[in-house]
Amino acid sequence: MSNFHGLVIGASSAIGQAILDILEQDPNCNGIIAVSRSENSQQNIGKVSFIQCDYQQESIENVCQNLTSWQGKIHKVFICNGLLHDETMQPERKIESVNAAQMAASFQANSITPMLWLKSLLPVLNGSSATQVAVFSARVGSISDNKMGGWYSYRASKAALNMLIQTSAVEYARRAKNVKFIAFHPGTTDTPLSQPFQRSVPQDKLFTPSFVAQQLLTLMNTIPMDNQAAYMDWNHQEIKW
Ligand SMILES: NC(=O)c1ccc[n+]([C@@H]2O[C@H](COP(=O)([O-])OP(=O)(O)OC[C@H]3O[C@@H](n4cnc5c(N)ncnc54)[C@H](OP(=O)(O)O)[C@@H]3O)[C@@H](O)[C@H]2O)c1
Repeated sequence: MSNFHGLVIGASSAIGQAILDILEQDPNCNGIIAVSRSENSQQNIGKVSFIQCDYQQESIENVCQNLTSWQGKIHKVFICNGLLHDETMQPERKIESVNAAQMAASFQANSITPMLWLKSLLPVLNGSSATQVAVFSARVGSISDNKMGGWYSYRASKAALNMLIQTSAVEYARRAKNVKFIAFHPGTTDTPLSQPFQRSVPQDKLFTPSFVAQQLLTLMNTIPMDNQAAYMDWNHQEIKW
């Protein structure tokens, strides 16, 4: 694709940073908008224009209103937001660990925040050229793939994300026909999110953020524009919803 602009949401993520690096070096990429909660991200460097956002509904709506001058010009979107653990919570190993606060935080970061972007971006992405929206999901969000159990909040919030992507794809197909959604599983990637859970992962199955970012960009260049959401992994293989 030539002469495109990119939008990276959750740009402080390790994988998001790797996507920014690749887009920066792509001569076909004319500019990148990077959105993050992080104040440190608040500087424009090279092709990248930074926007700070606290991901409240009104803030997301304001950012997207300010992007209306970009209507039809943003052709690659990456929604990288995700939360697995923080200083107050760890993924649940057993049912007794399930609690309302963790479930609410997980759904807020993993399902609600990406959905608010999909809602507010519709007018910005509605145009005549092919546009791809990659939303970072996870294989553990597949209901049919769930043989291991555990990780209740993260799993359920990624499964909810998958349903929200599917549902958005149905409506976008009527109202913004140029858009293709990808629910993307990056594989286990060496980032702060997976850091506490890497011990059991074989070295050749622990990917660098730059490898995963490159795999996603290659996928976006080759995936058919068929108005349907695809649930795909880092190896360009389909995952069953
Ligand atoms: N690493 C893996 O092995 C792996 C495996 C499967 C799926 N994934 C998914 O890949 C995506 C990128 O993850 P990563 O590994 O690069 O993780 P990371 O470096 O820890 O990045 C975390 C991302 O989530 C956002 N975030 C954190 N807390 C949030 C909150 N409370 N509300 C909204 N956004 C929040 C951050 O946005 P800001 O820039 O605004 O801070 C950042 O984009 C996530 O969706 C994750 O679930 C990762």
